[in-house]
Amino acid sequence: MCGIVGYLGKSEAVPVLFDLLRRLEYRGYDSAGIAILNGSIQTSKAKGRVDNLISITPEIMGCTGIGHTRWATHGEPSSENAHPHCNCEGSIAVVHNGIIENYIELKDKLIASGHKFRSETDSEVLPHLIEEYYDGDLESSVRNALSHVRGSYAIAVVSTDEPDQIVIARKDSPLVIGLGNNEHFVASDVAAILKHTKDVIFMGDGEIGVINGGGVKVTTLGGGSVEKNIETIDWDPESAEKSGYEHFMLKEIFEQPAVIRETLSGRISSDGIDLDAALPNVRRIVILACGTSYHAGLFGRYVIERFARIPVDVEIASEFRYIDPIIDCGDLVIAITQSGETADTLAAIREAGSRGSQKLGVVNMLGSSITRECPCIQTRAGPEIGVAATKSFTSQLAVLLLIAIRLGSERRMITTAEMNDLAAGLRQISGNIQRVLNDAARTRECAKLFAGANQFMFMGRGANYPCALEGALKLKEISYIPAEGFAAGELKHGPLALIYEGIPVVAIATKDAVYEKMLGNIKEVKARGATVIGIANESDTEIERYVDHVLRVPDADPWIAPILSSVVLQLFAYYVAYYRDCEIDKPRNLAKSVTVE
Ligand code: AGP
Repeated sequence: MCGIVGYLGKSEAVPVLFDLLRRLEYRGYDSAGIAILNGSIQTSKAKGRVDNLISITPEIMGCTGIGHTRWATHGEPSSENAHPHCNCEGSIAVVHNGIIENYIELKDKLIASGHKFRSETDSEVLPHLIEEYYDGDLESSVRNALSHVRGSYAIAVVSTDEPDQIVIARKDSPLVIGLGNNEHFVASDVAAILKHTKDVIFMGDGEIGVINGGGVKVTTLGGGSVEKNIETIDWDPESAEKSGYEHFMLKEIFEQPAVIRETLSGRISSDGIDLDAALPNVRRIVILACGTSYHAGLFGRYVIERFARIPVDVEIASEFRYIDPIIDCGDLVIAITQSGETADTLAAIREAGSRGSQKLGVVNMLGSSITRECPCIQTRAGPEIGVAATKSFTSQLAVLLLIAIRLGSERRMITTAEMNDLAAGLRQISGNIQRVLNDAARTRECAKLFAGANQFMFMGRGANYPCALEGALKLKEISYIPAEGFAAGELKHGPLALIYEGIPVVAIATKDAVYEKMLGNIKEVKARGATVIGIANESDTEIERYVDHVLRVPDADPWIAPILSSVVLQLFAYYVAYYRDCEIDKPRNLAKSVTVE
């Protein structure tokens, strides 16, 4: 959940590290720090945002350094707990992303042998442990130290004894090296270094790397040699910039026509659906994911069961890994994850694999951990910097539709007419999303009316139910307004008790098989005083008689319409948060990827 960075080259390290940290800030923003090698190690740390760090950092010269932006797990956000952490002598500095599970045991031993700790973090054991095992060679000392560590880590280490060198290592936390012109960059993910270089080496689990003027050498923690490929990332560096938008979230919402075009590009033809990975013929599918990706999974269940007639279970990854799941080689487990780094999702798919199930990933981040676990289908949404997932969600929905169509046609469960309708609908989807965006001013005006609300309800039925959950999640994570999403058919089983005079209820009421039932649910909440914001098709002339406000989406196939409604809900959440003056791209207590349990 933290971001680590490093730089070694001919330029001054401080501005480069600040640039990398700013780009990684979405991974954590409780505190930040840097350490620069220039004879000694000079550190600068601050509580809060990277901008705070920049404002308090004195001039520090030096062409080698490491940095960190933190999402606190062990120890409150403070400058003492900010990374980098140093050994007793101040000759070794370490930045760490992950959790050292046996840190108490290690810390006790280190204190007993005279080490002095300055922070409450688990990470501080690392520089002391490296100091304890220091044998004059930083690489072998790091290797030795790590052999005593249990947990997850991506680390970067510098030492005054070896001034032109950074040692890095990873286990279960992402780490990438960028190869520039006589300079090297280290970061937790590629989006941070795209501006500097597109040539990268992804570190694998259990690998240790030494970066110096001679280049990069990677070996296993056990000392075995490793041949690393240099990969060229074809993402446009501009995709990781705000490009004039006030927030990354807004930019990413507006990117969706192009993103979905890219997601579908080359994948739909008269021969069928072409995906990056084979889809095995299985008895059952289990979808594993967290948060927004879990909501995409719920949508996946509806479309796969509808068009391929394969039973689908959708599980929250953090639950699945501990329920002793019943799963075997007749099952296909699909892990959906934007980051490809979510600890629970990775652990859950490993658990499924260990029980013999077949595995598939639906992932956005190139080179992320999940791509090493199983064959993956890329959602191709490009870097998503806003903590609130937007374009990654709609691209996941599009990929799940493609999976459903492909499985349906392989199993001869989908008719040619259905396939043609869906394919035609998907071809029009980018244009239809654009029409939703063209109407953003109306959504903005509506959101402004409700920015003062202190509670929201979102309801939908069928494939719109996952959208209702996602609409509620989007609103609560960026505006901090309690919001509940529910299946409208459940109203009378409980949620109706929450309805009071004036409570805003967002009802997704696009035309589908349960449209009439949805109108019935709207009447039920209206009768109890709710103010209803309906999301309805452009051609729906009836809806205005039922609701107080209408936000329109173009007419579309009912299995595609949820993608359009999701865009409206994202805009709605964005503008409510905007009018409440919230920190939209960096909501409190959250970070973009949850790489710890
Ligand atoms: C949603 O806006 C959040 N960013 C969060 O729920 C996210 O979807 C979840 O943490 C899963 O992340 P992943 O897709 O990267 O695995």
